[in-house]
Amino acid sequence: MDGLDDLKVKYLTAVAGVTDEAALEDLRVAALGKKGEISALMAGLGKMEPDQRKAAGAMLNVLKDEIDAALRAKKAGLADAALDARLREEWLDVTLPGRPRPRGTIHPVSQVMEELTAIFADMGFAVAEGPQVESDWYNFDALNIPPEHPARQEHDTFFMHRDAGDDRPPHVLRTHTSPVQIRAMTEQGAPIRVIAPGRVYRMDMDQTHTPMFHQVEGLAIDRDISMANLKWTLEEFCRAFFEVDKVELRFRASHFPFTEPSAEVDIRYSNVGGQLRIGEGDKWMEILGSGMVHPKVLAAAGVNPDEWQGFAFGMGIDRIAMLKYGIPDLRAFFESDLRWLRHYGFSALDMPDLAGGLSS
Ligand code: DAH
Repeated sequence: MDGLDDLKVKYLTAVAGVTDEAALEDLRVAALGKKGEISALMAGLGKMEPDQRKAAGAMLNVLKDEIDAALRAKKAGLADAALDARLREEWLDVTLPGRPRPRGTIHPVSQVMEELTAIFADMGFAVAEGPQVESDWYNFDALNIPPEHPARQEHDTFFMHRDAGDDRPPHVLRTHTSPVQIRAMTEQGAPIRVIAPGRVYRMDMDQTHTPMFHQVEGLAIDRDISMANLKWTLEEFCRAFFEVDKVELRFRASHFPFTEPSAEVDIRYSNVGGQLRIGEGDKWMEILGSGMVHPKVLAAAGVNPDEWQGFAFGMGIDRIAMLKYGIPDLRAFFESDLRWLRHYGFSALDMPDLAGGLSS
């Protein structure tokens, strides 16, 4: 059979020159595929004389095996080269130092919210929520603050814009967390024990006031809850929160439309060279307003005042954060100064709980 040597040279040269698997496959098909050149010659054997066929068949088989072996060897070589290239490319020095940890911190207000939630949860209070854009009914009327009441002016309220002819109820940025009392009682009825931490808004700005600040509302309604329960609850809370045994609270008679009787509560502290200490000294800081929930407030939330009674309080979260962590200026809380946040912030990995320590 003539030309077999040429075929052999042709294919072995081509195989040697191939650089990728697709081209190699094309070559295999061209030579050994069903319609390939070698296969066509094999098919032609049938028409030969038996002697001729035997010799030609043997030569063709040898050629076919040679090309097949070359193809396989090349295929293995290409796969090895591809693996080498990948290993070179995906090389990784496992001895390099890791990426630096993110330096974000938990804001003192968030930290304090977690802490007080842990303390009140331990006393059986659930967390309730309400919207920051609140209808004036929830924010005022339902809390026994009718439209002409002076307290409406004292609250320095932000009103939401209304177009002329808009007859939806007027809305405000809630001026306190007290409306959550109404929402929680309307939803859950009595008995109930909830706290509601969150943002509140008033048009006010100086060293101790910011237009947005934080309160936590407390509400406990049952058949026989009294001022004594309020006093105990607040003292227990302050002891746990400030992590000092000696905490002294002062209850001052006061007035709120939504409580009767009402009391404002101050905590004793000292300020020595800018160092604040709770439970000693001769200074008092007001931290909350409180009282027995007014029967009209219970009724507005669908709770029968002849059957149920209880206490409520509203405490300034930013205030108690300043006291506990010795932070002198309230405005800095909301300036997002990274140096301040790193200094006063907390690790994201330390979740406050009563067993493990609140702020360790
Ligand atoms: N809502 C009052 C305020 O923002 C605080 C307050 C006083 C809340 C007495 C109460 C309360 O629940 O009983 O000034």
